[in-house]
Amino acid sequence: MLVGRVAGETRFFDRTVAPCEAAAMAARLDPDLLATPLAEALLRVLDRKTHWAWHYLTEPGLSRGQLLAHFRHEYLVYVRDFPVLLGTSLGRTPPILEVRKSLAENLYEEQTGGLSGSGPHPELFLILMDALGFERSFFADDDGSLTTAARSYRDWIGATVREAPWQVGAALLTIFVEGSRNDRGELLGTFKRPKGETAVLAHPLVRHYGVAADRMALTKAHAAVEGSHRTDAWHMVLTHTPHSSEIAIILVNTMEEALTRWLAYRDSVADAMSLERPPIAPE
Ligand SMILES: [Fe+2]
Ligand SMILES: [Fe+2]
Repeated sequence: MLVGRVAGETRFFDRTVAPCEAAAMAARLDPDLLATPLAEALLRVLDRKTHWAWHYLTEPGLSRGQLLAHFRHEYLVYVRDFPVLLGTSLGRTPPILEVRKSLAENLYEEQTGGLSGSGPHPELFLILMDALGFERSFFADDDGSLTTAARSYRDWIGATVREAPWQVGAALLTIFVEGSRNDRGELLGTFKRPKGETAVLAHPLVRHYGVAADRMALTKAHAAVEGSHRTDAWHMVLTHTPHSSEIAIILVNTMEEALTRWLAYRDSVADAMSLERPPIAPE
């Protein structure tokens, strides 16, 4: 539930298999690409994209103030401006058709919901927040609501997507920010992303915090399109980054830095939520 994946229109999801789902099922990453050292280096970063406070977010017991602190950070740090960041990344790319097509499709879905038949994902997020009783005005204040580490992470993402080489910004957004520790399993076919009503009913906000299933359009949209986006993202980056090059080194180093900054960001939000850290295990 790090990103409250959302609500609104549901009629497009009444079909048994949406077109984008069919595309996702058909798309598979080339096993030769997945077996490369570059893929392994990037997957090892995502394998560690997990945080000690995560379990609090999947269980009942959080106060309204804690929920608001978490979701306000997620919205202001990357949900609200994610389509714009994708646009910036797209604007840095050379004229490689499949790269531009992949980023443009992702941008189109994030800003309009056009592929999933839903709506703009930042808007779907706010609809979900409304279902929790959090007004839009709670998400209007920018810097004043964020921890220092959250602001730093957000500003660093914004600066990095503007820099060369283009592969770094594209990977930062589509592999690190959109990706998760499930990416390895999803690419190998051992992890099956929950779809449709199954994804909605399993969501902690529905199970523990009383959000009605018909307000979860963001969750349905992500379930419908993200599997395909994951494959597209990995294919784009691994196909168009010269392996064993300086660019590949910069790419892996930037992903490591993203993980470090993300962990600091998540630490800071957990502290703002007054969540108890687990004891440090003895050496
Ligand atoms: Fe996306
Ligand atoms: Fe999204």
